[in-house]
Amino acid sequence: MIKFDFQHAHLNENLKDYQEAVTLAHTQLHEKTGAGNDFVGWVDWPLNYDHEELERILATAQSLRGRFDVLLVCGIGGSYLGARAAIEMIRGLYCPDKPEVIFIGNTFSSTYFKQVEAYIQDKDVVLNVISKSGTTTETAMAFRMLKQLMENKYPAEECRQRILATTDRARGTLKELADREGYPTFVIPDDIGGRFSVLTAVGLLPMALSGIDVRAVMKGFAQAYDDLKNPDLEVNPAYQYAVCRRILEKQGKCAEMLVSYEPQMTMVAEWWKQLFGESEGKEGKGILPCSANFSTDLHSLGQFIQEGRKMLYETLLLVETPTLDGQFPYDEADLDHMNYLAGKSLDWVNKMACQGTLEAHEVTGGVPNLIITIPDMKEESFGYMCYFFFKACAVSVYLLGVNPFNQPGVEVYKKNMFRLLGKH
Ligand code: PA5
Repeated sequence: MIKFDFQHAHLNENLKDYQEAVTLAHTQLHEKTGAGNDFVGWVDWPLNYDHEELERILATAQSLRGRFDVLLVCGIGGSYLGARAAIEMIRGLYCPDKPEVIFIGNTFSSTYFKQVEAYIQDKDVVLNVISKSGTTTETAMAFRMLKQLMENKYPAEECRQRILATTDRARGTLKELADREGYPTFVIPDDIGGRFSVLTAVGLLPMALSGIDVRAVMKGFAQAYDDLKNPDLEVNPAYQYAVCRRILEKQGKCAEMLVSYEPQMTMVAEWWKQLFGESEGKEGKGILPCSANFSTDLHSLGQFIQEGRKMLYETLLLVETPTLDGQFPYDEADLDHMNYLAGKSLDWVNKMACQGTLEAHEVTGGVPNLIITIPDMKEESFGYMCYFFFKACAVSVYLLGVNPFNQPGVEVYKKNMFRLLGKH
């Protein structure tokens, strides 16, 4: 379902030379013998995910259907980005169907919180709080305030149906609180870290509540497992991508820009940034993941990419078939001189912009391009794409000699913040 093309990357090395290292990384991943092996539960998850939990998720979504206008998803980082990426990619940015989905608990901004609070005042709400640790400050602060708001809005029994907690199976502050209050709880598996958790209850529950067909998402996920289980670089596009990243890094590229031509893929790029940034950026190593949406950002970042410092390569994340399309109209007067496009499909124009930009950046600008093409922005493609990026990321980071599954650096700001906040 995914096509990977490295013909525009101008690689100085042959991918085949990495076969031995790739096979080792693949074996370490599948046999759970590599660094961070406590957190590789995602590798076999497409096959052995908790089927009962999925049924509970579907039943919960079904029982609440039609009873709420707004779904509040309260979480941050790995407990937020995947669900948002899926919901925006699949439903689009202006989905006319209910519920509207609002993400919260991912910022300390008082203005943001108060605006959401005012906005939902007269709306029917379901709240899904998501936190593995249960102690993440952004999420915990927002949740306390939202819980009080819900308690003022609905009787206790109604709150017990409308507040759903996704957290650790047995431990933690949120688990204890949810059990005491009688909220339904959903499990974040112990051996799956935040940034690899989108196809656990972390992402599946908000997806199901928003009307997404999560069975189809899991079908794509399982298909990817099958297609990408062969370590042979000739046939495994995820591993080809993993190796290309390392070759380009050796060629002096220290930033990777994930480029999409679809605005509703913007959050997929944010999710991807966490996946690669948090997995790889350690021990003074790693490629900086950044992103752009074209053609929008061609009118801002385009100049730098074309003629600025030659520090980056682009990875195009292209969509073969758009969710919606239309025809550009003919105009008798042609006062805007746009009739040369009359009768053309809107997506054809987008694709021509992509082709022209690729040539400008690669040929004229000397910027290497990798191209990943997905069939569409539907459920199966989302599930497939997640597994593709998981495997590419893990193998690429193993090739760098780094543990992809920890994130020791994120604690430093928290320590300083807690001191300033007076937390004991
Ligand atoms: O990848 C990670 O570990 C982080 O992004 C966490 O997911 C994020 O900090 C949220 O943590 P928690 O789910 O414990 O609230």
